[in-house]
Amino acid sequence: MANTDHALTWQTNDLDAFWLPFTPNRAFKRAPRLISRAKDMHYFTPDGRAVLDGLAGLWCTNAGHNRDPIVAAISRQAAELDYSAAFHFAHPKAFELASRVVALAPADLNRVFFCNSGSEAVDTALKIALAYHNVRGEGARTRLIGRERGYHGVGFGGISVGGIVNNRKFFGTLLAGVDHLPATYSREHQAFTKGEPEWGGHLANELDRIVALHGASTIAAVIVEPMAGSTGVLPPPKGYLDRLRAICDKHGILLIFDEVITGFGRLGHAFAAERYGVTPDLLCFAKGINSGAVPMGGVIAREGVYNAFMQGPEHTIELFHGYTYSAHPLACAAGLAALDLYRDEQLFERARRLEPGFADGAMTLKDLPGVLDVRTVGISAGIDLAARRGAIGERGYEAMERAFHDEDLVIRITGDTLAIAPPLIVSEAQVAEIFEKTARVIRAVM
Ligand SMILES: Cc1ncc(COP(=O)(O)O)c(C=O)c1O
Repeated sequence: MANTDHALTWQTNDLDAFWLPFTPNRAFKRAPRLISRAKDMHYFTPDGRAVLDGLAGLWCTNAGHNRDPIVAAISRQAAELDYSAAFHFAHPKAFELASRVVALAPADLNRVFFCNSGSEAVDTALKIALAYHNVRGEGARTRLIGRERGYHGVGFGGISVGGIVNNRKFFGTLLAGVDHLPATYSREHQAFTKGEPEWGGHLANELDRIVALHGASTIAAVIVEPMAGSTGVLPPPKGYLDRLRAICDKHGILLIFDEVITGFGRLGHAFAAERYGVTPDLLCFAKGINSGAVPMGGVIAREGVYNAFMQGPEHTIELFHGYTYSAHPLACAAGLAALDLYRDEQLFERARRLEPGFADGAMTLKDLPGVLDVRTVGISAGIDLAARRGAIGERGYEAMERAFHDEDLVIRITGDTLAIAPPLIVSEAQVAEIFEKTARVIRAVM
């Protein structure tokens, strides 16, 4: 029906127009999961049901939802300065937020490049790594090394170094010259481990093999998530990250930590780099920087990396990279308010304190039928369920649906793996509630 009057044609139940990301659209539109409001630990559906958020939005609302100081900061900022040009100009809060981020980062990670998402953070870090070698006269270092099962967002750089097959196989030949470390997971050796597994540190030595194969002089950087989140919560084996650091140092290769999930308290520290005592050369962040309130990401570079670019005539651009919305004023204002909340409510310390009880709660699922593994680290847990014969992912999908509709709980799924990672303001009673609900869901889908 041709009708240009939107007021007449708009219908609240028209679900066709929106193509949902990383979602089975047909199944969703048959039984939508709609959320219209949120506060602290809860979502609210349009019909007013309170739903407990077991996933901190999408691993991002670390301070909880719709926190008053963040809401106020965004609204003040919108009234004061909506936008200023990101290239050749800057606004004060960009410098303030960069300084606050640097104060949280270890060692000489002290230069912040802002972007708008985790995917952009990853592509930014990969580009900085390539350009870093280039400006130092080592332009032959073009290879990037990722890891199987790694998730680094959905840009072409990120899916090239990433190791999740479905995120790669539809999209052509990707970046050339990429190689992958093996995943760090072995159910045989690690099942039902709380925290960092004893087994698997030796897998970092695979980097030596890859370096021997390609030659160190061709390799620019290695990128890993300190804890691989999206693939289903794989904490690093003990000693693994130190070993990667040592091998990178030996060969002049930059080490990039993708802390898009682990940053801002998820593992009980500002960054996983601090938890593990390993300093990368470049650190990607996003999500928790402003508790998910406004899109934002960034890369923290070590001073030496930044300094390598600071040469040539002063009127020339040192790094030909950036985004219209780099350091957007609303994102920065939200970021400053979120960092205040993390500090004032000691939310990173809180996560550390809650970690043992959270891990115990997760392990109560251990003996349920069909549970193949439970892994925990910080305030995150991955639970592998046995797949239904010939229908990989079906049981996981049903678990997520049942959690939402029957148990008023949001959880994440990757195939038949459930992930739980609530905001860091979660109470002990809510931790117990999350795992009780999850247990009922698991029983229901077996
Ligand atoms: C480790 C990691 N890197 C990158 C990304 C991509 O972030 P975004 O979806 O904001 O692009 C994610 C998202 O979950 C992530 O977990």
